[in-house]
Amino acid sequence: MKLLLVASLAALACKGSVAREVCHQYSDTIESPCNEVICRPRGYEIRRYAANNTEFFTDAFVDSDCFLKAATEGFNKNYAYISGKNSKNETIPMTSPVIFRKYNDTSGGGGNGSADETADLTGGSEHCLAHGWHVGFFVPSKYETRGDVPVPEVENVTIAAVPSGAVFAVKTFGGFASERDFNRKTHELVCRLKRDNVTIADAGDKWRAVWASYDSPFVIFHRHNEVWVKIDADEAALIRLDSGDEVGDEEVEEEEPLWNAQDFNSEVA
Ligand SMILES: *[C@@H]1O[C@H](CO)[C@@H](O)[C@H](O)[C@H]1NC(C)=O
Ligand SMILES: *[C@@H]1O[C@H](CO)[C@@H](O)[C@H](O)[C@H]1NC(C)=O
Ligand SMILES: *[C@@H]1O[C@H](CO)[C@@H](O)[C@H](O)[C@H]1NC(C)=O
Ligand SMILES: *[C@@H]1O[C@H](CO)[C@@H](O)[C@H](O)[C@H]1NC(C)=O
Ligand SMILES: *[C@@H]1O[C@H](CO)[C@@H](O)[C@H](O)[C@H]1NC(C)=O
Ligand SMILES: *[C@@H]1O[C@H](CO)[C@@H](O)[C@H](O)[C@H]1NC(C)=O
Repeated sequence: MKLLLVASLAALACKGSVAREVCHQYSDTIESPCNEVICRPRGYEIRRYAANNTEFFTDAFVDSDCFLKAATEGFNKNYAYISGKNSKNETIPMTSPVIFRKYNDTSGGGGNGSADETADLTGGSEHCLAHGWHVGFFVPSKYETRGDVPVPEVENVTIAAVPSGAVFAVKTFGGFASERDFNRKTHELVCRLKRDNVTIADAGDKWRAVWASYDSPFVIFHRHNEVWVKIDADEAALIRLDSGDEVGDEEVEEEEPLWNAQDFNSEVA
């Protein structure tokens, strides 16, 4: 089944099928990864990424569970990479969003998730636990293949490809997003997905939960933040059928987030 977009959704979607089209999400000038909006169930959006092209993000590992520390250190590592600390000594254009992920890295290149299991999950989200964050910049589409992407010459920075055709449920929100905000929105999204019987990606999936931040700190108004939860791609068509094109303001049953990024696995279990 061909999942073409309704015209009214085209503003957020990537138009056309030209390979390596430069796409923009919330800015006319800053490049963002192309994606296709499959549908908008109430309260979130289903998007497909890396459908026609390979899409890459940098992956700067920061050996800290403190979100703020990870955000700063991760940003600096990635900034060094795009400022020329790479195999081509190339200055790479700034893009958006900056993404934050947590996953167990078994390949040895930093990121040992073994401390995660003992994490105290009841202490709110401001605890600093050993696990680490992976902070990424979107790699401009002009680098078409992995071979084209300049190799990072910054410690603990690697390049990661978005899984081909990955489908994410996306929840968007504004403001200066704190860790608590991201946690709360993730929780709300996961609740909605459960309500809608949508299958969330396996616990081992490195793209299972992604936090995306689109604006520099200098942008005061109309900021854009997103939580992405990876879902079963085959279900996307069914979600569309079920949801119609219902768009509307949602009344979310607010819950105090006793929940943080470490809880993600228990939350969706
Ligand atoms: C991929 O290509 C198809 C048709 O060739 C197009 O309809 C779709 O929008 C493209 N998707 C993305 C994410 O670029
Ligand atoms: C990058 O810069 C370093 C140090 O200045 C130099 O040794 C290296 O040859 C340069 N590499 C390229 C691909 O220009
Ligand atoms: C890390 O791996 C352990 C054991 O395989 C698992 O229980 C835990 O949930 C994983 N953590 C993350 C963030 O994937
Ligand atoms: C990860 O943690 C385990 C258990 O503490 C340890 O045996 C292993 O060497 C660690 N791996 C890395 C890459 O640090
Ligand atoms: C790279 O990650 C390892 C953990 O895997 C850490 O011990 C090391 O300090 C990190 N290096 C830098 C420069 O951040
Ligand atoms: C989800 O599944 C349950 C149990 O099968 C069913 O009762 C419920 O109606 C489903 N909800 C949706 C939105 O499809």
